[in-house]
Amino acid sequence: MIALPFAAVSAPPIEVAYMVASALFILGIRFLGKVKTAKRGNDVAALGMAVAIGATMWELLAGGKYDGTSWALWAPAMALGSGLGFVLAKRVPMTAMPEFVAVFNGLGGLASLLVALAEVALVAEICGQTGLNGLLQGNTTLSGHGGVAFAVAVFLAVIIGGVTFSGSMIAYAKLAGKVNKNRFGALGTTPVNVVLAILMLGASIWGAFLADSPEMLWLSNGLVALIALVLGIGLTMPIGGADMPVAIALLNSYSGIAGMTTGFVLSNNVLIVAGALVGASGIILTQIMCKAMNRSLGNVLLGAISESGGAASKEGYTKVKTTSAEEVAPLLDAARLVIIVPGYGLAVAQAQHKVRELAGLLEKKGCVVKYAIHPVAGRMPGHMNILLAEANVPYEQLFELDQINDEFAQADVVLVLGANDVCNPAANDDPKSPIAGMPVLNVWNARTVVVVKRSLSAGYAGIRNELFQLDNSLMLLADAKKAMEDLVTELKAQ
Ligand code: TAP
Repeated sequence: MIALPFAAVSAPPIEVAYMVASALFILGIRFLGKVKTAKRGNDVAALGMAVAIGATMWELLAGGKYDGTSWALWAPAMALGSGLGFVLAKRVPMTAMPEFVAVFNGLGGLASLLVALAEVALVAEICGQTGLNGLLQGNTTLSGHGGVAFAVAVFLAVIIGGVTFSGSMIAYAKLAGKVNKNRFGALGTTPVNVVLAILMLGASIWGAFLADSPEMLWLSNGLVALIALVLGIGLTMPIGGADMPVAIALLNSYSGIAGMTTGFVLSNNVLIVAGALVGASGIILTQIMCKAMNRSLGNVLLGAISESGGAASKEGYTKVKTTSAEEVAPLLDAARLVIIVPGYGLAVAQAQHKVRELAGLLEKKGCVVKYAIHPVAGRMPGHMNILLAEANVPYEQLFELDQINDEFAQADVVLVLGANDVCNPAANDDPKSPIAGMPVLNVWNARTVVVVKRSLSAGYAGIRNELFQLDNSLMLLADAKKAMEDLVTELKAQ
């Protein structure tokens, strides 16, 4: 065993450090509630995490709790994980952030699953031939590793961790366009999910209360983990089309709850607090997203399998009027109120700075410019707000759907920039549409709508958009950044 130099130093009261970390997490979330303080919120929460990790490491090293073998194992693992996280976070483009978040959620779930299984191994070793059931029968000498609460926490961590991991991987694959239809046959249908859930519950009860040997304990836990992984696929697979934001928010919440249950397994207070915060905020976000989409959570989770990316939806447009920057510039020059509707394509094209420049030119000409922000525009909550804030668009010019929907009727020009589903009238007019009932931006009420996108292809939900061929619609078919550059040039020449 390697003797650690810190062994003689007395450990600081770890719980005080954990309380400081928890307070920083709560403060961070509070700052995250407003766009102006959001960055600070991120930094404060990251500081909280540094305090939590630092305190835990200090306890391990100075408290002499672990020998050199564990130190030699987890130090490189931590360095590898942190390094990988840092590099990936630096390199991932804003447009791929939801996929990135999905993978992170999944890894959180996997960590909970593995930690719970490691604790099972520990328990099996401690209990010898009696298994977890032996603990439940009253082996009181194993403080922190016994009792019904521990058994329940272990199985919950395995279940929620497993569902979160596989569910998040499917969410990632769907967001990245790698899976756009159900390739798993009956898996994902409600009856199969119900059967899996019952089997999983049965295996958990067996493991927690009836398993009476380490082998049985392993078998029951392995079975529960396996079913949880399959169930995660089954639960996420049917969620499709425009409902994916809700799934991501929900999986985010699951990853927090999985972390919290792992906190109970390890008797680690900061993990319980952090997990509970992520779990609760994820649920609140899920509710907000459901409201934004006018969906109930049950409806989203049990919704019909919807296939995104429908290429066929390009076809069948007969009355589309295409336009050019030269034709649109005079319309903008004469406008008193212009409303800009940013969407996913704006983020792909990285056109936010050019949009800001165009808006500046219009404002100099005495035009009022506003931005209409749909809650699910883009690919993650707040995507458009972040993008526009990056280009220094004044926050006062950003309006949410219910604040601006009535104002489209007064707008001279609406510029729809790389947005599609969020301004599709089918949500109001076609009860059979996959986005039926989703609140949309009523851009068609403006005098002229200019839709900037590269083609007539569908958006994320994979459906056609009648907006493209309304009488007052003009299609400016181009990359959003190029279109903005051309409009700026033309407007300067007016
Ligand atoms: P979409 O409906 O996905 O439409 C985006 C449009 O941008 C596409 O039709 C595409 O048409 C165009 N585009 C792509 N690259 C472009 C470029 N370089 N220049 C110009 N246009 C470009 O986006 P939306 O209106 O923002 O709606 C968001 C959708 O994503 C909703 O269905 C929502 O439910 C879903 N979603 C949202 C989230 C969150 S939380 N916001 C998460 C996951 C999914 P072309 O190919 O013809 O250019």
